[in-house]
Amino acid sequence: MKYPISITKTTAPAAKPADESKLGFGRIFTDHMFLMDYDEGQGWHDGRIVPFGPLPLHPACTALHYGAEIFEGMKAYRLADGSIQLFRPMENVRRLNNSAERLCLPQLDEEGCLDIIRTFVDVERDWVPHQEGASLYIRPFLLGNDPHLGVHAVHHALFVIITSPVGAYYAEGLNPVKISIESEDVRAVRGGTGYAKCGGNYGASLRAGERAEKNGYTQVLWLDGVERKYIEEVGSMNVMFKIDGKIVTPKLTGSVLPGITRKSCIELLKEWGYTVEERLLSVDELFAAAADGRLEEAWGTGTAAVVSPIGKLFYLGKEYTVCGNKIGPVTQKLYDTMTGIQWGRIEDTHHWCMKV
Ligand code: COI
Repeated sequence: MKYPISITKTTAPAAKPADESKLGFGRIFTDHMFLMDYDEGQGWHDGRIVPFGPLPLHPACTALHYGAEIFEGMKAYRLADGSIQLFRPMENVRRLNNSAERLCLPQLDEEGCLDIIRTFVDVERDWVPHQEGASLYIRPFLLGNDPHLGVHAVHHALFVIITSPVGAYYAEGLNPVKISIESEDVRAVRGGTGYAKCGGNYGASLRAGERAEKNGYTQVLWLDGVERKYIEEVGSMNVMFKIDGKIVTPKLTGSVLPGITRKSCIELLKEWGYTVEERLLSVDELFAAAADGRLEEAWGTGTAAVVSPIGKLFYLGKEYTVCGNKIGPVTQKLYDTMTGIQWGRIEDTHHWCMKV
């Protein structure tokens, strides 16, 4: 089902960034945004692409008071021939609906949502960067917009898409990052919202991230919220380790985000012949492996940074260096393959990409 979309173009388009090597992440926004309203009884209506600007939100709205907000992150890539493609966009659409279900926000028709994303990126196609490594980050989000303060499921909602030309997520780029294990705060608990991509999970992670940064670390390694024993994620990314030749990654227990980069990396690693174990991995097991040299590589996976090598891990007053603080061969191969497929340099044998 397609949602009708009206298009009102800006009369004052902004200048495109002159130097795409200095984009950073999520600081510049394109000329337009997509908005669509939901009202119970009426369903989704008034899909519209309009000039970028403030949102029409009621000050009492459910999103601002009770955190009824979910989002997605995906990218559009410009290929050498100038064409533009998305990477596994239906996975993002499905996850958006799964997140919506958890937060009692309304569902979107999947084909209709994908059509909205493609139509919007097409309108902003001149904003998709040309430089190697830069892309157009797409941020769809859905929020509760009920204009009263009772705590209840949402009856009015707003679906929005904004886009931002981006470069590297971390200032380190593909250089290894320093990570400390977080032993005080947790980002999610079983039965909570960890598997949903909701703003609250990220809000809950900020304090630990800040503390880590003050102590000279890029991000934290999150432990589970129940036993505070099992590794879950790194910063805002999924995490993978190469231990004794095998790949180990935390299994999706409900408090771990089902990452699309995570899923793609697992599929690639299995094709390359690696044993991939999706299981509980305790911090003790990880540091025993780090201490006796069996932890060969560690990396985070996510849409924003793709693959981010971990060079140092800090736990209980001790710092462990992983892979000589260099990017390891598996991490590098994953990065090269993922970005190769995304930018169309490597044949997309999995049919993961979709042209805009
Ligand atoms: C990602 O790795 O894509 C993320 O989830 C980070 C995002 C919240 C900026």
